[in-house]
Amino acid sequence: TKPKRQILVSNRLPVSIRQGDDDQEPTLQRSSGGLVRGLNVIHHEADSLWVGHLGQIENGDQELTKKLLDEGFVNVELDPNIYDRYYSGYANDTLWPLFHNFLASMSISDNHWDSYQKVNQQFAEKIIEILQPDDWIWIHDYQLMLLPQILREHDSKLKISYFHHIPFPSSEIFSAIPRRQELMCGLLGADYIGFHTNDYVRHFMATVKRVLGAKTKINEINHDDRSIKVSAHPLGVDFGAFSKPHPQETPPPAKLSDKERVTFLGIDRLDYTKGIPERLTSFARFLDLYPEYIGKARLTQICVPSRQDVDSYAEIRNQVERLVGNINGKVSSTDYIPVEYIFRSIPTAEVIDLYQKADVMVVTPLRDGLNLVCKEYVVSRTDSDGCLVLSEFAGSASEMGEALQVNPYDIENVAHTFNKALQMGREERQERMTALRKRMEEHDNRYWAQNYLEAWSQHEDGARSKS
Ligand code: UDP
Ligand code: G6P
Repeated sequence: TKPKRQILVSNRLPVSIRQGDDDQEPTLQRSSGGLVRGLNVIHHEADSLWVGHLGQIENGDQELTKKLLDEGFVNVELDPNIYDRYYSGYANDTLWPLFHNFLASMSISDNHWDSYQKVNQQFAEKIIEILQPDDWIWIHDYQLMLLPQILREHDSKLKISYFHHIPFPSSEIFSAIPRRQELMCGLLGADYIGFHTNDYVRHFMATVKRVLGAKTKINEINHDDRSIKVSAHPLGVDFGAFSKPHPQETPPPAKLSDKERVTFLGIDRLDYTKGIPERLTSFARFLDLYPEYIGKARLTQICVPSRQDVDSYAEIRNQVERLVGNINGKVSSTDYIPVEYIFRSIPTAEVIDLYQKADVMVVTPLRDGLNLVCKEYVVSRTDSDGCLVLSEFAGSASEMGEALQVNPYDIENVAHTFNKALQMGREERQERMTALRKRMEEHDNRYWAQNYLEAWSQHEDGARSKS
C-alpha cells in the first residue's frame, strides 16, 4: 500500500508571513533551514497537504487562508504568547540544546512545557479537522514530539510517521530532561520513526529501553501492543537544482594556493551549534601560522539571522561580531579584509554562485543533525573542483568520507587543514569531489523521500498482516 494523500506536518511552513508597517499589506516570505528544503520536493510531487504555523495573521483572514490552501498549505493559528513560550521557550531553549549535547544551556520551565503541550494539541486539532480516511500523516521534527501520541489516541488505526531532523543524543544526556517519559511516549505514537544517521537510531533505541523499559528487537519496538520501526534515512539534496554549469573558464590550478586570491566560505544559520567562533579562531590561527596567506586568503561568512528572541542566540551573535571585528582590526590593510561577514539570508541563486566561487568550503558545526550546506556545495561543483572541510560532528560526515574531516574544537588542527586544502594536488581534489558528487547524485532528495515512503509502507503492510 501507498498513501493516497499525505499530510506533512512541521512547525514551519516553507513560507512565513511578515506583517507590513502601518497600512501595508502583509507579505509572504520564503523560510530558510534544511527541513523545509527537504519537504518541498515531496509536497510538489505528491498529493499532499502541508500543515504548519505561518506566523501571526489577522484573525480569520479568509483571503489569505484560501490562497494558502490553493498551494496545499494549512495554517495552524496560534496565540502569539503561547507560540513564543513553545517555540523560543521549550523547543529552542530546552529541546534544541539538549539534543545538541549542550546540556548546560538547557533551560527548564513548567510554563514553557505547558505551552509546548498546548501547541502540540492544537496541531492535532487542526489535522483532525482536515483529515480524510486513508490519509497518511508524516510529522517532522522536535517541535512536535507529542503529536504522534495525541493523534494515535484519537484514532488507533491512523498511519503515522515521525522524522527527527536534529541529532538524537545518548540516553545519558537525554535522561537529564525532566519530561523524558512524556516525550518518548509522544514519539511512540508513530508507526515508523526516522533519523538521519545510524548513531541517532542507536541512541534512540537505548533511550527507549532506559527511559520506558520498552521491549525492543533490532530497530523495532513493542509498545502498547504495536510494533514501531526505527530507521536511518539521511536527507539528500535536489541534485538538478544545485548542478548549475560552472562559469570558471581558466584551467584549474595545480594547487589552490597557486591562485592569486583564495576564498574560504561558511554559510550557516547563526546558531551556537554551528561552531562559528571556533571557525573564525581557526582562520585567524591559520593566518598566524601561514602568514604568506595574509593579503591573499579571505573567509566569507554568511550568517542567517535565527531565533533572535532566545538569549543564547543574541549572545552568539555578539560573540561572532566581536571576533570578526578583532580579526579584521588586527590583520586588515587598506586593500585587504580577511573576514567578510554578512548577517542576512540570501537567495538560493546567490548561494550557488558563492559555492561555485569558493575554493574551500568550511562546514564545522560542533553538532549538527545532518547539514545540507556541505552537500549542496559538492553538488554545485560541476567542475569537480574545490575542497570541503567538514566537521566529524555533522550528521553528513558519515556519508562524506572524502571530505577533509576535522574536530572543530581542535583549532590548531583546523588551521593546518586549511593549509592542507590549499596545498592538495589537482588530481586528488578532483577525485575526492567526483566521488562525493556521485554519492550525492545517487542519494538525492527524491531518493530519500521514495525510500522512506517505501520502508514506511512495508512496515504498515507487515504490521497489518500481524494484527
Ligand atoms: N540557505 C539559504 N540562504 C542562506 C543561507 C542558507 O537558502 O542565506 C539554505 C541552505 O542553502 C540550506 C539551508 O538553508 O539549504 C540550511 O540547511 P542546513 O541543513 O545546512 O542547516 P539548518 O539551518 O537546517 O540547521
Ligand atoms: C533546523 C531544524 C528545523 C528548523 C530549521 C530552521 O533545520 O531541524 O526544524 O525549521 O532548523 O529553524 P527555525 O527555528 O527558524 O524554524
